[in-house]
Amino acid sequence: MLMSNLQHLTFSVRTFGCQMNMSDAERVTGILEAAGLLEADSLENADVAIFMTCCVREKADTQLFAQVSSLKNLPAPRSGRRTVMVGGCIGQRDGEAIRTHASNVDAVFGTQALPRLLELLKNAREAPQSVLKDHPLVDVEEPYTDTNDEIIRRPEKTFSAWLPIMYGCNNFCSYCIVPYVRGRERSRLPEVILEEAKLLREDGVKEVTLLGQNVNSYAYGFAELLQGIADIGFERIRFTSSHPKDLTDDIIDVMSKNTNIMPHLHLAVQSGSTRVLKKMNRKYSREDYLSVVQRLRKKIPHLCLTTDIIVGFPGETEQDFEETLSMVREADFDRAFTFIYSKRKGTPAATWENGSTPEEIADRFQRLVRLVEEQSLRANQKVLNDIVDVLVESVSKKDPSVMVGHSPNNVTVHFDLPNGSTPNDYIGEIVPVKIELAKTWYLRGTIQAKDTFASRAVR
Ligand code: SAM
Ligand code: SF4
Ligand code: F3S
Repeated sequence: MLMSNLQHLTFSVRTFGCQMNMSDAERVTGILEAAGLLEADSLENADVAIFMTCCVREKADTQLFAQVSSLKNLPAPRSGRRTVMVGGCIGQRDGEAIRTHASNVDAVFGTQALPRLLELLKNAREAPQSVLKDHPLVDVEEPYTDTNDEIIRRPEKTFSAWLPIMYGCNNFCSYCIVPYVRGRERSRLPEVILEEAKLLREDGVKEVTLLGQNVNSYAYGFAELLQGIADIGFERIRFTSSHPKDLTDDIIDVMSKNTNIMPHLHLAVQSGSTRVLKKMNRKYSREDYLSVVQRLRKKIPHLCLTTDIIVGFPGETEQDFEETLSMVREADFDRAFTFIYSKRKGTPAATWENGSTPEEIADRFQRLVRLVEEQSLRANQKVLNDIVDVLVESVSKKDPSVMVGHSPNNVTVHFDLPNGSTPNDYIGEIVPVKIELAKTWYLRGTIQAKDTFASRAVR
């Protein structure tokens, strides 16, 4: 039997990067548990230490290599041998070359290797350490065959699930490594996705998030799929990421008509300057983006709009940056993830002169962050004294008497655990919370009686 010598080994997975990696990590956990491995209490104690990696910006690379190397001098785990595996996007990018930065890696697997993970692990456990010392085992094949595989996974949360609808990306934004490490766009069949969604619902999942690098270009029609998911009856439906060039009116219509599709859209703008957007190969202008926003706001007046912005892209001038600031105001973003441009080897932009100094870029970044924070605070203040639905997810790490969840707009909400109750009375429940404090990054309030009306239509 393939798995026989893997049973009772312990494993631990550490995950970096985006939701797609988190979803893949749940899949890794599911595959290993189904083969009889047990989750360890820490990465350090695990017989099999797995890193699901990200290389979208340079910081992610540095972080990974330090963490992998830190396992080198630790005592061996219970089985007497630690197997270190690196998967995900750095695995796909670097293959065997990962050893340049992390000499203790035994096996490397790429973003399309999950169906073959057990085989790789078994080979790594059986190979003499003297062999692995010279070369790690590597599986970075891109067979394009796993698209419609049944997904075995062990979700982090029982009430909330990721649901991948497509893999890869065809957009080749000039700064971005993702198309090179995730391959070309492959859409899963709608019947496979809907069947999986029904199973999740039957298992008690309340919130489902459809995943893809650009879900709007789902090959079999995103609007139709979204309606099909809405009909299954989840309490909360989310999807990410959307690309402005593919956000068509039929998708906006489905969002506006179904109250279980959350009134929150993450729509990366990247820059407010048409000149920069063109160099980024985003395939829309400033005006195109603002017109999508206008259409959205017309159909979904209470929409919460969030975005991604890159500062310091090669050739960005002060004038271009001012246009980004005015875009943030005009589009009236509720929140934004802001990034300093990071050169990614192999992408077109990596060969372009920057033209701005690191000090100028840092200064722009600070100005952008200040503006985004002002807007986030203002957006959060709009719900003061409102009662909002909160999906309760966990206990605060800082204070065990505080519960943490998310509003329909995906804002973090804190509330005190009522006297006489335990966290498990609330985790996984959607409860009404009256908002009494609004901060830039979170809201705080008091839980209300269960039957208190909380309108999904309010922010
Ligand atoms: N496909 C999604 C999209 O286009 O919205 C997500 C792409 S990526 C996982 C998330 C964000 O990282 C991007 O929207 C972009 O803002 C940022 N990003 C990607 N490459 C970058 C780079 N080289 N430097 C800085 N930020 C980058
Ligand atoms: Fe990267 Fe652009 Fe694809 Fe998003 S759409 S993953 S930013 S190439
Ligand atoms: Fe990172 Fe790969 Fe996601 S590079 S952002 S984990 S697709």
